[in-house]
Amino acid sequence: MPNSKTSRSINTGGIRPKDGDNEVPCDEKSFFESFYESTIEGSPSDRDTIGGSVTEPESRYHYNAVENAIILAMTRINPLPPPMAIRAWTQMTKNANRRLLDIGSGTGHWIDFFVDTYFVSEAVAVEITENMSAHLKDKYFAPDNVLVLNEDVASNVFTAELIGGKVDYITAIGVMFHITDDKRWEQAISNLSAVLNEGGIIFIGGEFGEKTQNVHFNNVDNFTDWRDFRSAEGTSGEVRVNKRVRSLDLWIEKTQHCDLKVVDLVRIYKDPSIAMPENDLLVLMKS
Ligand SMILES: C[S@@+](CC[C@H](N)C(=O)[O-])C[C@H]1O[C@@H](n2cnc3c(N)ncnc32)[C@H](O)[C@@H]1O
Repeated sequence: MPNSKTSRSINTGGIRPKDGDNEVPCDEKSFFESFYESTIEGSPSDRDTIGGSVTEPESRYHYNAVENAIILAMTRINPLPPPMAIRAWTQMTKNANRRLLDIGSGTGHWIDFFVDTYFVSEAVAVEITENMSAHLKDKYFAPDNVLVLNEDVASNVFTAELIGGKVDYITAIGVMFHITDDKRWEQAISNLSAVLNEGGIIFIGGEFGEKTQNVHFNNVDNFTDWRDFRSAEGTSGEVRVNKRVRSLDLWIEKTQHCDLKVVDLVRIYKDPSIAMPENDLLVLMKS
């Protein structure tokens, strides 16, 4: 039976809150800028978005598993055509001129996947870090169908106008649990709903279990390398929350307030021998 936990866990530097520590939200922008600065050597790869504690095969397993989960969810919503109708389906899909918004794009994996597999004609990449935004701007310089924005999805100026109009699909894979401040997380959900067309679909990658809990921590958001990260003491009596997983019930409650309905939840098979980030797939539709 699939279980919802990875037993070979992702290494977070072993930082745990001490008794009495105040758990405060980390600053995602500073943390991820330091994270990428410390992790990437040369050209960024997908594995670099997860961190140094997974191998190439584990990273590939994670990306393949989430790709398959998206394909399964999409097929349950719109069944794929029989062989004789594949050409027509391909042409219709291309002609539909669908737009994708990808939040926390990292290297742009989910943009490439949707362009290649579901023929989206335009995409918007929203990435909070300057270093990864610069990489994405270089990567998508030639194709003129990908707009890269160095923005925060939880900001209160995140509007359809900012992203050049509403979209049909939104992906936020491994991102929403890093928005650990609850008010900002709720603002991000409301922003996503506001920029989605009616009938549009959101794919959220993360953990959707029984409990809402803080699961990864750091002492400092700014660091120059991983040695610095591990040895930094931070502020006494305080630990910074880097990942907060919300329960499925909380997701259902908060998204309902924003005209979004949970239409699917695809749980990914986890084997104890393979380390992966939290990567089940929650699928929401705008009513
Ligand atoms: C674990 S990585 C996942 C990258 C990518 N989605 C993937 O699956 O390969 C999380 C990404 O989200 C970005 N991020 C975190 N908080 C964000 C926010 N509030 N707005 C936009 N991007 C954010 C980080 O900079 C980082 O690139």
